[in-house]
Amino acid sequence: MKDLAGKVAFVTGAASGIGLGVATALAQAGVKVMLCDIEQAALAKAVEGLKLTNADVDGVLADVSLKSELQAAAAAVIARYGKVHIVVNNAGVTGGGGYGAWTDASWNWTIGVNLMAVIWGVEIFGPLMESHGEGGQFVNTASIAGMISGNGGPYNVTKYGVVALSEGLRNELGPRGIRVSVLCPGFIRTQIIDSTRNLPDRFAGVTDASPAAGPAPEALKMIRDRIAGGIDPLYVGELVREGVENDWPYIFTDNEFEPFIEARFARIKEGFDQVRGREPRR
Ligand SMILES: NC(=O)c1ccc[n+]([C@@H]2O[C@H](COP(=O)([O-])OP(=O)(O)OC[C@H]3O[C@@H](n4cnc5c(N)ncnc54)[C@H](O)[C@@H]3O)[C@@H](O)[C@H]2O)c1
Repeated sequence: MKDLAGKVAFVTGAASGIGLGVATALAQAGVKVMLCDIEQAALAKAVEGLKLTNADVDGVLADVSLKSELQAAAAAVIARYGKVHIVVNNAGVTGGGGYGAWTDASWNWTIGVNLMAVIWGVEIFGPLMESHGEGGQFVNTASIAGMISGNGGPYNVTKYGVVALSEGLRNELGPRGIRVSVLCPGFIRTQIIDSTRNLPDRFAGVTDASPAAGPAPEALKMIRDRIAGGIDPLYVGELVREGVENDWPYIFTDNEFEPFIEARFARIKEGFDQVRGREPRR
């Protein structure tokens, strides 16, 4: 989507981290941005900060893991800006660890925010983008964890889901004038590791990625350190803007994990090699 100035974007998880970086980068290009988040004070601060730069932005509070709240947020975008062209389904949480640390609350919360909210975002905003005939763009935030899976925890499962959803929708929605990109960040300097700060009450019982329940303390410390020293979220926002302008199917932030993804593809190929030349019984 070229000529971003004057277009309208809706960004979830926009009060912090990558979402705020994306909202900022789009606003800098003259896009009108509706920031959506569950964290009221952080949302107000983010909107206020962007308004100081003369950006045309506004905020809407919503828990995106509740479909009704996402529907109300969509209505707020239309009421405020009349139409919407770019939807960034970005809100996400890291709930729960791998095998042995599972709880239903962890699965439900993580699936609700990371996957169902993306599905509903497409379901709710797709028709709104199609209705004006000016074209549209979804950017769905997955992760490198949607390409390689280090454990059987909810986070990776939801991120693989977002990749599958985005790849499939790109085929389905392209002919209807809607583009779909999937964002797969590496380590980005955000507050993701402290996701439980926004845990809705109905998901009480989540096993945080805490040393007692989740990854081993050293692994957790390593992740914290990598995120603390991670890539600037505004840089990620600028990449997303470039991806939107040039319709990139995959938006990666760096090449750190490329060899791991190649190794996964090699293992998949080995699986095919096991059965190559055999005649399947039908
Ligand atoms: N930081 C990283 O290293 C990294 C790497 C790969 C993918 N990601 C993904 O990037 C996305 C953004 O995360 P981030 O790293 O910027 O973290 P962050 O915690 O800084 O920002 C996430 C935002 O989502 C909001 N949010 C959480 N639950 C919500 C809900 N139910 N409804 C609405 N908003 C909600 C939070 O309030 C917060 O503002 C997530 O999908 C995450 O999985 C992050």
